[in-house]
Amino acid sequence: MRISVVGLGKLGAPIVAVLAAKGYDVVGVDTNPAFVDKINNHIAPVEEPGLQELLTEHRARISATQDWAKAIAETDMTTVIVPTPSGSDGGFRNDYVLAVMDDIGRVLARKSGYHLVVVHSTTMPGSVGGPIRERLEQASGRKVGRDLGLCYNPEFIALGDVINGLLHPDFILIGESDKKAGDLLEGLYRKVVGPHANVARMNFVNAELTKISVNTYVTMKISFANMLGEMCDRLEGADVAVVADAIGRDSRIGQKYLKPAIGYGGPCFPRDTIAFGRVAHLLGGKADLALATDLINRRQVQRLTETIRDLTPGGVVAVLGLSYKPHTPVIEESQGIMLAAALHEAGYAVVVHDPMALGPARSVLGTTAKFAASVREAIGQADVVVIVTPWEEYAAITPEWLTGGRPRFIIDCWRQLNPALFQGHCQIVRLGHQETIAAAAKRVAAE
Ligand SMILES: NC(=O)c1ccc[n+]([C@@H]2O[C@H](COP(=O)([O-])OP(=O)(O)OC[C@H]3O[C@@H](n4cnc5c(N)ncnc54)[C@H](O)[C@@H]3O)[C@@H](O)[C@H]2O)c1
Repeated sequence: MRISVVGLGKLGAPIVAVLAAKGYDVVGVDTNPAFVDKINNHIAPVEEPGLQELLTEHRARISATQDWAKAIAETDMTTVIVPTPSGSDGGFRNDYVLAVMDDIGRVLARKSGYHLVVVHSTTMPGSVGGPIRERLEQASGRKVGRDLGLCYNPEFIALGDVINGLLHPDFILIGESDKKAGDLLEGLYRKVVGPHANVARMNFVNAELTKISVNTYVTMKISFANMLGEMCDRLEGADVAVVADAIGRDSRIGQKYLKPAIGYGGPCFPRDTIAFGRVAHLLGGKADLALATDLINRRQVQRLTETIRDLTPGGVVAVLGLSYKPHTPVIEESQGIMLAAALHEAGYAVVVHDPMALGPARSVLGTTAKFAASVREAIGQADVVVIVTPWEEYAAITPEWLTGGRPRFIIDCWRQLNPALFQGHCQIVRLGHQETIAAAAKRVAAE
């Protein structure tokens, strides 16, 4: 099977590389000529661990074009991974996917033989079986089901771990127009992931609801952990890490994503949770759990700002970590960016650092923050340091790096540092750990 991949962005480019690595001939398509050129020159168009290596190693099977006729006519299956941005109402917009259906359909109208179209982009329930299917049928003049298959196959992958996530998914979700289309896609996954791939097949609307339900359930666990953390900030003797670890031992609950720290961000979790609430609203109901999850998440930056205010009413704050998670430059819905903006607004001087995200951060924060080229430079000028994103290099901070009595406090959101090592140098404050918060307050009062 020859495969065309439409959209060579954060997910599309890794999909091209992984399919080629598994022996498929792949043609990429993108409206962005720079991305097409990069793929043709075997250069990764986005930063993602392992992507460049795969593109180089399997270059013989990879090409890219802006010529739809060539891409669709020369392949048997087309996967679509273009943006579905959130609208002002919180639902996903289908404009890009619909435009792609027009382009694919126009070529399919002149092509004979079976073709499978797979939509990977996240869509609102009712979209793939509704307007997306209609546009494909209109443009191609064909009916979905006979010589044209349509599948919805959303991704649950985390940026920074896309290649690994594609090769080792928890499960594969397939919404299918008919058995033939689903069989073909399942067969592909059994080759790419292995014969034991965990595949869930269903109709379009169930698959669309499953996709946003998975992410909403995961964010609900994160917000539950952070809600517990808020209680443990104040409850004498309480430590949220101890409580969360114990709760997670219950097999009905599990440890994964029950990690109290800061709010979630990124291109999927926040918007999928909001879209889940929007779906309920459109149906005349209420998704209270999703709404509460989002509400708790939105106040985590305020929780951090208030913690900082209790440590120092002004001065310099270093925000370490601006990407929404380690190993990616992506700053969408990043807690670090939101914190830096809130601190500037509150009158603090802000210095920021990130190993990968300083470029994108600069375009958002502008002159409201100073950009440090190294961790030492950032912490050397700060009264309070906040480790927002758990990059490995922040775990390497040692007391020897602290000079001139600065910083006085490090808020270690992910508990990467050993407080005992810093005794006599600087106070480590742990979110959700009342003892360290109270000790810091005592020091502030004594000073
Ligand atoms: N990034 C994630 O972590 C993630 C995870 C799961 C699901 N998703 C979903 O995947 C989809 C794509 O996400 P992404 O992060 O890869 O987006 P992206 O913005 O990184 O990449 C999209 C690419 O599509 C191209 N494109 C846009 N319109 C096009 C068209 N008409 N024809 C051809 N190419 C076109 C763009 O130029 C861009 O290169 C979205 O629906 C998103 O919700 C993303």
